[in-house]
Amino acid sequence: MFLVRLVYTSSITEGVTESDIQNILDTARNNNTAEDITGVLLFSKNRFLQCLEGSRSNVNKVYHNIVNDNRHSEIVLLDYSEVYEREFADWSMGYIPEMAITRPLTLKYSENASFEPYKMSGSSAHKLLLSLSKTVTVV
Ligand SMILES: Cc1cc2nc3c(=O)[nH]c(=O)nc-3n(C[C@H](O)[C@H](O)[C@H](O)COP(=O)(O)O)c2cc1C
Repeated sequence: MFLVRLVYTSSITEGVTESDIQNILDTARNNNTAEDITGVLLFSKNRFLQCLEGSRSNVNKVYHNIVNDNRHSEIVLLDYSEVYEREFADWSMGYIPEMAITRPLTLKYSENASFEPYKMSGSSAHKLLLSLSKTVTVV
């Protein structure tokens, strides 16, 4: 089974807190390790932006769970591609801190400097995550 990369964005449900995000990350890291999925998650301005990479069947299965999770909504698939290598292989689910997003970096990949992933193309969203993962210590 070959590798795929999936990037989506979503909006956090009202009332979901920082500790819920920590729970999401704990579950994600456990499940993804078991499924050989790697990736990164960014949370900023009430938006999630996440990249998952792994076998097509495992990525599809996990994405199905994610889409049915009521801790977020307005889930939009931005990119789904067959890839020949992983880019986030070091992280079962790396968390990119909000402070990593700078105006110049957002401007590089968007129409303007405000972070709004719903207005980004799949490839720009992917490249933004890739840049962020290289410039910061992903925890
Ligand atoms: C923004 C967001 C990102 C998530 N990322 C992942 C993920 O990478 N992997 C995963 O297994 N679950 C992830 N989840 C959790 C799933 O939606 C779901 O709760 C989980 O897969 C269920 O796992 P369980 O059956 O082991 O409890 C995420 C949820 C949210 C809201």
